[in-house]
Amino acid sequence: MDKPVAWWRKGVFYQVYLPSFCDGNGDGLGDFHGLLSKLDYLAELGIAGIWITPFYPSPLVDNGYDITDYCAVDPRFGDLALFGELVAGCRQRAIRVIIDLVINHVSSDHPWFQQALNAPDSPYRDYFFFRPQPNNWQSFFGGPAWTRESATGDYYYHKFSPQQVDLNWGNPQVCREIERVIDFWLAQGVDGFRFDVINFLTTDGIGPDNSWSGHEQRHDYDINQPGVIPVIAHLCRYIRQRKAAFLIGEIGSEDLGILCRYQGEALLDVVFNFNLGSQKTFSVSAIHQQLVEMEARQPGVPTLFFSSHDMPRMISRFGEHDRDVARAVALFALQIAAKGVPFIYNGDELGLTDFVPERLDQLQDIQGITHYHTARAAGESHQAALARAMTQSRDASRAPMQWDDGAHAGFSMVAPWLPVHRNAATINARALQQQPDSILNQYKNLIQLRNHHSALQNGAYQRLERQGDCLLITRKNAEETLHILINFGAPRPNPLFGDGLPVLFGDDSRDLGKNHVLIKKGNHENSPQSC
Ligand code: NOJ
Repeated sequence: MDKPVAWWRKGVFYQVYLPSFCDGNGDGLGDFHGLLSKLDYLAELGIAGIWITPFYPSPLVDNGYDITDYCAVDPRFGDLALFGELVAGCRQRAIRVIIDLVINHVSSDHPWFQQALNAPDSPYRDYFFFRPQPNNWQSFFGGPAWTRESATGDYYYHKFSPQQVDLNWGNPQVCREIERVIDFWLAQGVDGFRFDVINFLTTDGIGPDNSWSGHEQRHDYDINQPGVIPVIAHLCRYIRQRKAAFLIGEIGSEDLGILCRYQGEALLDVVFNFNLGSQKTFSVSAIHQQLVEMEARQPGVPTLFFSSHDMPRMISRFGEHDRDVARAVALFALQIAAKGVPFIYNGDELGLTDFVPERLDQLQDIQGITHYHTARAAGESHQAALARAMTQSRDASRAPMQWDDGAHAGFSMVAPWLPVHRNAATINARALQQQPDSILNQYKNLIQLRNHHSALQNGAYQRLERQGDCLLITRKNAEETLHILINFGAPRPNPLFGDGLPVLFGDDSRDLGKNHVLIKKGNHENSPQSC
């Protein structure tokens, strides 16, 4: 008998980047009213859960990853009653709700930090790090990680923008505060948490200077501090004693060895596999190599994703040409067929492409803006600094969802906070729903396969092989064996593809994406030998 499978292994998860998902209250920013209006769309897509990016009160310097109140909803996104409606609406449709827990830092407007500034003798001062002199640690958004405060002249520590102040996880009081936050959201009915940059927690204080590799700082002492793992273990135990929640870690690293440290029975259920997901260019052999390594080294189930709000969309990064749908479908088939938990970034199911801002006044991302100012301060020209800021901005993948061909792509009644892509007139959910072969319908078909085939949920690999541009995967559990062939190269005649013609949705075989994906049920003998 196979071991019982945790609920979160059975389905596909969907990232809702809330500011860009759907604007229900007409202010140009996505919100809960908008999300509620799209729950039927999500149910029809067949996903098992949503991860909602931060919705807490915030000055939105970093789109909500700068929280001023952990136990409330920003009025621009909704309120707690609407959050309750959202949880209930999701439950009715068998969709689980995962929320973002940003506990490395708080907004500089958070009352804890305001107390620390205004009453330096209060216990809140020790919730943060203040030093008379900074060390050389650099912010991940560019420039120093220290900013001087005027009252005492001390510097405070922030790994991201100066408006995102790092919490002192060496102070047990901080942990007690976050436990209360966890209790609060569990009581609201959430099914799991996505822990933001959780390996960045400063648990062991401010250490020695980091070293440099050319112009890049090596993060020797500011991240992956020894105390992080015990803190994660504590939080995971705390939550599991209360609920069988899904615990996802964003570990800021592309190094599989580092990612693996944080996953395990007493640690996180899964970590985001940036070793696979962040690849900059498309290479079947690099993808295959990472899958093989994950199978050999990862202590639990991997995650499978290629896009998020922090990186260019996969269709723009990996295509042979602008909007390479065939390749995007093949990649999604891989997310469905390989071992792991698939995550869709909202809009990938529509094949949305990156929208790259062209002018400084279009740039909204704090990371891009900080890079611009850092480059200017270092003496770069406006044009050079702007070019750098554009490449380092994350706005490209954050443009609004394209729901229909109406004004503002049906995202909002007013001009959205980021421009809508020009291609929304033809590429939008309503249009794609009506085209049987559209990327959206192929996503739906693949999600159905994953939902109905237990071998795709928990099957072991019997085969994980690359032949040229093809991946050949066999997954097997006690119930079934599935053979999957994914051709990332040019369509080619192959007897297994029925003389090059797609065999669509036969009883035991499926061929999706113009000869790019074949899924066949059967025993080892009838597995595709080659492609
Ligand atoms: C990771 C989030 O995904 C990103 O958007 C944010 O800027 C940083 N953490 C800081 O919270």
